Amino acid sequence: MALLGIDVGTGGSRVVVVSRDGTVLAAATCDHAPFRSARAGWAEQDPADWWRASAVAIRSVLASTGVEVEAIGVSGQMHGAVLLDEHAHLVRPAILWCDQRTGAECRAITSLVGAEALIDFTSNPALTCFTLPKLLWVRQHEPAAWKRIRTVLLPKDYVRMRLTGARATDVADASGTLLFDVAHRRWSGAMLETMGIDPAWMPPAFEGPDVTGVVSPEAAGETGLRAGTPVVAGGGDQAAGAVGMGAVRPGVVSVTIGTSGVVFATTDRPVRDAGGRVHTFCHAVPGRWHVMGVTQAAGLSLRWFRDTFGMPDGRAAAYDALTAEASEAPAGSDGVLWAPYLMGERTPHLDPDARAALVGLSASHTRAHVVRAILEGVAFSLRDAIEILQSMSVPVTRVLAGGGGARSPLWRQILADVFVVPVGMLKVEEGAAFGAALLAGVGVGAWPSVETASDRTVRLAGDVVPDPAAVEVMAGAYARYQTLYGALRPTSARGDSHIRP
Ligand code: XUL
Repeated sequence: MALLGIDVGTGGSRVVVVSRDGTVLAAATCDHAPFRSARAGWAEQDPADWWRASAVAIRSVLASTGVEVEAIGVSGQMHGAVLLDEHAHLVRPAILWCDQRTGAECRAITSLVGAEALIDFTSNPALTCFTLPKLLWVRQHEPAAWKRIRTVLLPKDYVRMRLTGARATDVADASGTLLFDVAHRRWSGAMLETMGIDPAWMPPAFEGPDVTGVVSPEAAGETGLRAGTPVVAGGGDQAAGAVGMGAVRPGVVSVTIGTSGVVFATTDRPVRDAGGRVHTFCHAVPGRWHVMGVTQAAGLSLRWFRDTFGMPDGRAAAYDALTAEASEAPAGSDGVLWAPYLMGERTPHLDPDARAALVGLSASHTRAHVVRAILEGVAFSLRDAIEILQSMSVPVTRVLAGGGGARSPLWRQILADVFVVPVGMLKVEEGAAFGAALLAGVGVGAWPSVETASDRTVRLAGDVVPDPAAVEVMAGAYARYQTLYGALRPTSARGDSHIRP
C-alpha cells in the first residue's frame, strides 16, 4: 500500500508514490505545453493539458511500482483562475499566477475595499498574482465569457475535478485568491459581496488532509488508478512543499531557491504585516498558518548570468563550475553588490518596476567576485523577508534550505552567514508532490497528524553553521545592500504596473 502525490506545476505535472515509511518508490514528471503570452506580462495555460500530463505521470509511476495506491493528495501552482461553465466545461484558458495584466484591477480593489479593510478581510493586499484581480479583468474585458462562469477553480482543483468529479479546494490554496478569510479559514462573505462575485462559484474549502472525493470510474480508466481511491484536499504548492520539507511547526523556516526564492514560516495564528510585504496564508497543517516572502529572481539571477555571459571561451558555464569559481572570492565579494530585481520584486518592495543592478565594481574585480556577489545578493533579499518575519515576532530558530540553489554548498554557507542561523538540508527533496502524498496519508489514518507524518518521513542531511568571521563581513555588506533599492529607484523606468500599496 502506498500514497500518491501530484504537483500540478507550471512547467509540468510531477507525481510521486511514497511508502508509509517515507521512501519514494517512484516519481515521474510530464511536461506541460509552455504558457502562452499573447502580450508582454500575460501568462495562460490550457487546464486540459494539466490533466493530460497528470494522467501520463500517474500511469508511468503505477507501471513502474505496481503497488496499490491507498490515497491521493493534490498540490499545484497557486493563484491561477480556472473558469468553468454550467457543464463544467472550460470558459477560456486559465490565467496564471505569474500573469501581470491586472495592475489596474488591483488599484480598483484597493480603492473600493480600502487598503486596511482588505488586510482585515483577507490578511493580504491586492497583488497582480492573486486570483480575484484576474476575475475582474475577465468581467471588464470579456463580458461574454464572464456571463458563462458558474465555477472558479484553482489549477490543482481542476485536476481534482477530473479525478473525482467533485468541486473542492483546500484552505492554503484558497488563501491566495484574495476572496478568502484567511484568519477564519472560510470564504470571505464581505469580499465576495463587495466585489460582486457569486459565492456559489467558489468550491467548498477543506483542510489539507480532509477527503474531498474518490477517483471516479472514468478517471480510473484514464489513469490506471482504482476507482474509489480517496483524494484529499492537499495544498497549494508552497504549503504542500513545506509539509514535504518538515516546515510544519513555528520556528522552522524553509527557504527554497528555485527560479524564485521563497521564505516560508509556520505560525500558530494568522500573523500579518501591516504593509502586506509578506503573504499571510493558511497552512496545509490544520490549525496553522504561514507567512511567506518571495524574491522574484533567486535562482533566476544565477541562470541569467550563466546564460548571458557564459564562460570566457563562449561555452555556457555549468552552475557547479560557476559556484566553484565564486568560492575563490572572499565573503562580501570585496564590495561588489547585486540587487536581484530582474523581475521586479515582491518582498519587501512590492514593486514590479524595480530593476536589477551590479554595484561597486572596480577594475580589480573578477568574474568570481561577480558570481559570488549574485549569490550574496539573493541571500540578502531573502534576509529582507526574514527581517520582516522577525519584526512580526515570528521566530526563526532554524532554516531548512531546498530547491536547486540549495544544492550548492557555497550558496548554503552564504545563507547561514547572512541569516546567522544554522541551515539544514534534506536527504531527499521531493517538494510539493511529496507533501501532498503525506497529506493523503494523514487523510486515511496512516499517521495521526501532519506533524507526525513529516517527523516520521522527512530525513535531514545535517546543518551548515554560520562562520563567525564571514558573519561580520556579511552584516556590513547587508547594511550597504539595504540602501540599494532606494538609491536605484530614481534610475528605473516606471511603468503603470506599479502596485506598491
Ligand atoms: C506562490 C506563488 C508560486 C506559485 C507557482 O505565491 O506564486 O509558488 O504557486 O508555483
